[in-house]
Amino acid sequence: MFVCICNSITDKQIRKAAKKGVDNLYELRDELGVASSCGSCADMAQSILDDANGECFGPRLYVPSSA
Ligand code: FES
Repeated sequence: MFVCICNSITDKQIRKAAKKGVDNLYELRDELGVASSCGSCADMAQSILDDANGECFGPRLYVPSSA
């Protein structure tokens, strides 16, 4: 799926960059050019990067310990 239309960057390319160690939007912009034109892809690119890096900023479940 295309994430950055201006620069023809896909989610696969973003996940591949994350595997190479890219962990923030600034590095992603330097690596691929994401969000370097209109910037409307920045939020989606950040979400995919966070997901690829195993980070979740959504609601978290509270699981009480059994001790
Ligand atoms: S859609 Fe990514 S810079 Fe425009």
